[in-house]
Amino acid sequence: MKTTINRVSEFLGQEVTIGAWLANKRSSGKIAFLQLRDGTGFMQGVVVKAAVTEEVFQLAKTVTQESSLFVTGTIVEDSRSPFGYEMQVTKIELIASAVDYPITPKEHGTEFLMDHRHLWLRSKKQHAIMKIRDQIIQATYQFFDKEGFTKIDPPILTGAAAEGTTELFHTQYFDEEAYLSQSGQLYMEAAAMAFNRVFSFGPTFRAEKSKTRRHLIEFWMIEPEMAFVTHEESLAVQEQYVQYIVESVLTNCALELHTLERNIDALKKVKAPFPRITYDQAIDILKEKGFADIEWGEDFGAPHETAIAESYDQPVFITHYPKDIKAFYMKPDPERDDVVLCADLIAPEGYGEIIGGSARIDDLELMEQRYQEHDLSGAAYQWYLELRKFGSVPHAGFGLGLERTVAWISGAEHVRETIPFPRLLNRLYP
Ligand code: 4AD
Ligand code: MG
Repeated sequence: MKTTINRVSEFLGQEVTIGAWLANKRSSGKIAFLQLRDGTGFMQGVVVKAAVTEEVFQLAKTVTQESSLFVTGTIVEDSRSPFGYEMQVTKIELIASAVDYPITPKEHGTEFLMDHRHLWLRSKKQHAIMKIRDQIIQATYQFFDKEGFTKIDPPILTGAAAEGTTELFHTQYFDEEAYLSQSGQLYMEAAAMAFNRVFSFGPTFRAEKSKTRRHLIEFWMIEPEMAFVTHEESLAVQEQYVQYIVESVLTNCALELHTLERNIDALKKVKAPFPRITYDQAIDILKEKGFADIEWGEDFGAPHETAIAESYDQPVFITHYPKDIKAFYMKPDPERDDVVLCADLIAPEGYGEIIGGSARIDDLELMEQRYQEHDLSGAAYQWYLELRKFGSVPHAGFGLGLERTVAWISGAEHVRETIPFPRLLNRLYP
């Protein structure tokens, strides 16, 4: 019977065959321990000299790292490993031998590993991070489906900027200039007027020259948008969504979290409602914490976000930022014209902003005024203005950055390890 490592529990006491690669091995004169991986999991295969043919034992002793094999044997319980099962090997068939695999069990530098990302993905830790990423993706679809959202796909090639023109990748679009999308939001607002509650999930691109552990050039964003919804109501959806994905990883990725040595207790504390502070309060907290130079009106950087997050063991919303440091479409606070109805959600443990969201301006005249102030008179933005002409409604939405969320939940130090093939300031290979 042919099966995969993630299904061996169904075959306890039975003989099965698994297609696998050799991740690592240990052997002595009488026994060989093969660390097998097949992409669905990692499992030990035990080859006892006395129990197999001489040929099989010789192969077990000499097979090289990352060679591919068909391994046959009986599945038994193994209470010492977190996986819980191992194989008592009876037969090994070599498919293809690997010579001088560059990533050995010893330590390697990050640049070396990034240059070999196409192979590094096979390693146990990288595998665990990608499985957590996949779980967050699945939980995202489940959550928004359960909450009555329709998935709508905005275009990637666009004629206008959503977040500000300095971060755009230009490309020629026949006779026109086009840009790679930095956010699908403007299109999602159109979609919300057609489908009420919508979300998108796709790649976005930022040509910003940031070289931090939180910035990718290409990253994936989940962007929900809701008609007839206030800023407050949007915050409630955000915290429920984040709680849902954390719970789903805790439930379904226990082995991966164990592999990554993630502190589970910190994740178990993530329960809505999350604390909320205003930008003004954040400024006071920062001054108290020794950021003497911070002035009202300045944007927060990573050290500021980390300092604020330290006071909480939950994600924290910072709301009501000054209008001048936020995007043109954000709705002003009706009680105070210099701040907008927005929030950034800051993850605990120093992982920084994982969500940016706001209520959107729904008043046509105010939006026209913003168009003047931000010089958005070009043809590319006309359709967006029409959403305010034909049955405008209060609406709000947000964007969650997938990789920063994966980094936080999996405990990865840098977002480059949270996407299969990262695009960074100095990296387009592999
Ligand atoms: O705060 P941002 O720029 O918000 C928007 O793009 C809005 N249009 C979203 C919306 O309201 N529909 O980006 C949202 C999130 C950030 O909180 C962060 O998690 C992630 O996207 N993000 C990045 N992740 C990795 N690398 C980068 N360079 C990122 N820039 C933003
Ligand atoms: Mg932001």
